[in-house]
Amino acid sequence: MAKLTILEFPDPRLRTRAAPVAAVDGAIRKLIDDMLETMYAAPGVGLAATQVNVHQRVLVVDVTQEQDRPLAFVNPEIIEREGKTDAEEGCLSVPGIFDKLSTRSSRIVVRALGRDGKPFEMEADGLLAVCIQHEMDHLEGKLFVDYLSELKRTRIRKKLEKERRERAGGAAPQR
Ligand code: NI
Repeated sequence: MAKLTILEFPDPRLRTRAAPVAAVDGAIRKLIDDMLETMYAAPGVGLAATQVNVHQRVLVVDVTQEQDRPLAFVNPEIIEREGKTDAEEGCLSVPGIFDKLSTRSSRIVVRALGRDGKPFEMEADGLLAVCIQHEMDHLEGKLFVDYLSELKRTRIRKKLEKERRERAGGAAPQR
């Protein structure tokens, strides 16, 4: 397995719409394994292939504290949704930023192919439902900050750019 680099907002590659996976082959299984390793190391509860600059419809999720229930979804579709929830969200591509969204369904049924290539359906609620919806947005090139105001989004972009500059310059000797 290999740890992958996570793209960060406002990287334009995060705006790419992912293409459907034609076949769950060895390359897709390796991608899933690498994405899980990357997500667990971050640490995070979900990761979409878009975030590691692979523009195919693959996402991984594990909302357990123990990190012992990895889930992989290939070509996921939400086939049922109900209710509304306003959980706080964060994103590995928008590090350190959290905000409450009120746009998520509280219960969903998702249909996808698993790591074994077999179709399955899963009902999800709570954090798992929110997480799957968040990751599916990534596959459309959409980020959770898109639901916030333009003013907030600009502030977040400036804060992240400043942090990146400081990180890049951090190793330089003081004058
Ligand atoms: Ni995210």
